[in-house]
Amino acid sequence: MKRLDGKSALITGAARGIGLAFAKAYAAEGARVAIADIDVDGAKRAAKEIASGAIAVELDVTKQVSINTAVHNTVRAFGQIDILINNAAVFMASPIVEISREDFARAFDINVAGTLFTMQAVAKHMISNSVRGKIINIASQAGRRGEPLVAVYCASKASVISITQSAGLNLIQYGINVNAIAPGVVDGAHWDDVDAFFAKYEGKALGQKKQEVGSAVPFGRMGRGEDLTGMAIFLASQEANYIVAQTYNVDGGNWMS
Ligand SMILES: NC(=O)c1ccc[n+]([C@@H]2O[C@H](COP(=O)([O-])OP(=O)(O)OC[C@H]3O[C@@H](n4cnc5c(N)ncnc54)[C@H](O)[C@@H]3O)[C@@H](O)[C@H]2O)c1
Repeated sequence: MKRLDGKSALITGAARGIGLAFAKAYAAEGARVAIADIDVDGAKRAAKEIASGAIAVELDVTKQVSINTAVHNTVRAFGQIDILINNAAVFMASPIVEISREDFARAFDINVAGTLFTMQAVAKHMISNSVRGKIINIASQAGRRGEPLVAVYCASKASVISITQSAGLNLIQYGINVNAIAPGVVDGAHWDDVDAFFAKYEGKALGQKKQEVGSAVPFGRMGRGEDLTGMAIFLASQEANYIVAQTYNVDGGNWMS
């Protein structure tokens, strides 16, 4: 018996990176997985790679119609949604004096409103079908404290932690557990962009920032998507029924709270 046998999951931003690692791990634990992403071709490739019961779903978390359609298509394919992972997000960074309203609005639209309204759509489905489901939001160590060049992203991830608390408290009356995971520094395409940013603003060589943040992790290296999957499986399982509104650090020891 696998831990997620018979469950179906919608995972946003799962065409690559950490979301794809979640999708693979859930499928290996017996879940049917909807890989929902704005990158439809990437989502299709991922679903094909996973094969066992995985489907690709087009989703732009900034558009309510797209959220509703993705939820509808997942329910049509799987019957119901037991688990949602709100993973889609964008990183951005700049000194305070260079932050634009456009970048601020984009980060909050995707990272915060996207998380809230995807959660809302799935929660409505769960409530009206009496599904005692699990919702897992992906926060970040960046949501635990500000960073000099990362104000907007840090604030957006602090908001994800806060929304997880409020939604967790509000939805547990329906048997829906809302919790979050705060990763630290996780290698992948996303971090290539981060590294290039710090190369520009801190005058570092390409690859230097990645090397520095990796060696600063108490565990001794950057994280990998697979380092986060154990917590994501646990929070989606019945073993986590009594856990409500929490954010767990899975970061090799970077942050303690
Ligand atoms: N990589 C890290 O170091 C790190 C650290 C802490 C937290 N996180 C968080 O983990 C999650 C995954 O990060 P990652 O490194 O895999 O990122 P990534 O950039 O590799 O993947 C993000 C995915 O989200 C999708 N996406 C972007 N905008 C979207 C939209 N509007 N609608 C639907 N999908 C959209 C992208 O197409 C992409 O597939 C994010 O929430 C990120 O903030 C990452």
